[in-house]
Amino acid sequence: MKFKTTLTTLACAVFACTAFASTANATKIGVSMPTQSLQRWNQDGHNLKDQLEAAGYKVELLYAGDNDIPTQVSQIENLVSANCDVLVVAPIDGGALTTALAGAKDKGIPVVSYDRLIMNSDAISYYATFDNYKVGQIQGNYLVDALKLKDANTKPKNIEFFTGSIDDNNVNFFFGGAMDILKPYLESGKLVCKSGQTEKAQVATLNWSTEEAQKRMENLISSNGYGPEGTPLDAILSSNDSVANGITNALTAAGYNKDNFPVLTGQDCDKPSVKNMKRGLQTMSVFKDTRLLADQVVKMVTAIVNKTEVPVNDTKTYDNGTGIIPSYLCTPIVVTKDNLKEVLIDSGYYTEKEVK
Ligand code: BGC
Repeated sequence: MKFKTTLTTLACAVFACTAFASTANATKIGVSMPTQSLQRWNQDGHNLKDQLEAAGYKVELLYAGDNDIPTQVSQIENLVSANCDVLVVAPIDGGALTTALAGAKDKGIPVVSYDRLIMNSDAISYYATFDNYKVGQIQGNYLVDALKLKDANTKPKNIEFFTGSIDDNNVNFFFGGAMDILKPYLESGKLVCKSGQTEKAQVATLNWSTEEAQKRMENLISSNGYGPEGTPLDAILSSNDSVANGITNALTAAGYNKDNFPVLTGQDCDKPSVKNMKRGLQTMSVFKDTRLLADQVVKMVTAIVNKTEVPVNDTKTYDNGTGIIPSYLCTPIVVTKDNLKEVLIDSGYYTEKEVK
């Protein structure tokens, strides 16, 4: 039902959009990104801009300072006033853009939600992201294997949990996907969380902040007596790399090194995490090739502009509170020190020097 409404809205939106601009050259795409302080979003923004420009579009790329919600709201309002033909938005707070985007809907400007789902807005036409639930499952399964939890002879392992910003809808999928794998082991006692903090709200990290994660890890170390000479800490689930870096800082300060480092997950293959994997600190990361996501968004935008069928591969997972948003999910890949050269360097994502 809602799907139909979205398509009808889109059809009108596409009509309005092509009325503004009949050729790619004149078509203006507004891109709103959350922050310039994390490598991930700098890469996304620039890949997207480059690829949209290569396809002939004019691009207005705006960053909302360092995750500043009022800045993102006013930037979106400006892109709407400037009559952008399509908006691509990666929200800071997935629920804070309803009013700003109502303006886009009024003007018939289609909105593509980028990487993170924009909640409670019926202005969203499409969503392009990675398979976020799978990201969590990859992390959960990695821990199961690394800790040999399926082996009957394995003694109980101590674990702590960290996820990202509670206002980011992706957290439900990252944390949910990992916990769906790990919960049975907590219930059977094979995994033990000494802090008792296993709920999303307890393990969230506002703005995915490295500093916040470091502080929480320091507190967990002191309140549970974790340390190379103290209570063993076998593993930490971290939903991404900016959080994993804070955890790594706290662990190394507490005396952990490559010979006794707990199994630590991450996501994004940010440069500091790739370096840490090479050093034997962080154990794994999940690679989401932002070039693929940008490529997919260019295809979506082009189909919207040309009124052809918009490529999607998921029409049941992502409900933003106003109905299901048709989505394209790209595939995440597990990276460890064993395959990082092949996946990240041989593919041209990083040069050897960048992650030395
Ligand atoms: C993205 C992750 C990223 C995190 C922090 C999430 O919405 O999907 O790739 O690590 O935000 O920026």
